[in-house]
Amino acid sequence: MADAPHIPVLLNPILEKCAPVHGVWLDGTFGYGGYSYALKEAGASKVIGVDQDPDVIARNQNLPEGITLIQGRFGDLDKLVDEPLDGVVLDIGVSSMQIDEGARGFSFMRDGPLDMRMSQSGPSAADVVNRGDEELIANILFQFGEERKSRRIARAIVAARREGDITSTLQLAEIIKKNLPHPKPNQPHPATRSFQALRIAVNDELGELARGLNAAEAALAPGGLLVVVTFHSLEDRMVKRFMQIRSGNAPRANRYAPETEADAARFEKVTRKAIEATEAECAANPRARSARLRIARRLETPAAYTDPHDIGMPKIDLSKGGIL
Ligand SMILES: C[S@@+](CC[C@H](N)C(=O)[O-])C[C@H]1O[C@@H](n2cnc3c(N)ncnc32)[C@H](O)[C@@H]1O
Repeated sequence: MADAPHIPVLLNPILEKCAPVHGVWLDGTFGYGGYSYALKEAGASKVIGVDQDPDVIARNQNLPEGITLIQGRFGDLDKLVDEPLDGVVLDIGVSSMQIDEGARGFSFMRDGPLDMRMSQSGPSAADVVNRGDEELIANILFQFGEERKSRRIARAIVAARREGDITSTLQLAEIIKKNLPHPKPNQPHPATRSFQALRIAVNDELGELARGLNAAEAALAPGGLLVVVTFHSLEDRMVKRFMQIRSGNAPRANRYAPETEADAARFEKVTRKAIEATEAECAANPRARSARLRIARRLETPAAYTDPHDIGMPKIDLSKGGIL
């Protein structure tokens, strides 16, 4: 989609740090294909795109030679390919295409069914809001949205649904707005944090990120690059911690105990600190403002498994609390 309105975030530093781009790359969040096209053009012999959204697959039926697209989740990326990879790139989150379409139910600015599922399958935001118990809803809002008024909002949701199911985005946005103080000028809409939290929960975005990092470790060839762009502090913290632990830089529980195979480095960091967008990029693309880029290079040591909670994934069990 060379004519797509979408501007890929932090593309220049990605290409610069990964130069010379070569071999087989996997773009785990294809979206508009911004990274896939650029990586192919920069020298990748092949780019395998992955996206969980059936609409993305339907819109990209005619891709140029050397770029393919699979419907799936990047958390399973090691199972989606049968060759070692020279690079994996993940651009975490939703696309503007998904947010802008009211019928997908991501936006508190556009009316639509309370859906928010990128894959268009599984439990929706309406299921969480109408079937989740009050404590689970409050935990989701607090942990995934850093919403300090989480308990008050959860209570209001549970009270409102006694009158009947909450089915639309604007209906939920109104319930939240009515129960929070009026925002001051230049403050975000009161439902911003809650909608973000519900989206993260519905799509199990943090679980996917943890699975994706482990899967990339398994699928990358020695020398292969892991490139991750995040937009949320919780996600950036998980990526940072993963790269720290996997590059052997995290403190061990007992530094006097002999170093074991489990402690051996699987990656070396390419970016010491997260790379942020320049002022010029933020001016051209406001979405870039919260973006953080981290890159690490795969070493020879065979892959192992990192527990999601060891890299800071909040402990919320979505299978409890009435939703699944
Ligand atoms: C921010 S957009 C990517 C934009 C892309 N980098 C570009 O430049 O065009 C995120 C895309 O990743 C997809 N996505 C999000 N989480 C995913 C997951 N766990 N597995 C596969 N695709 C995912 C979404 O459906 C969406 O299309």
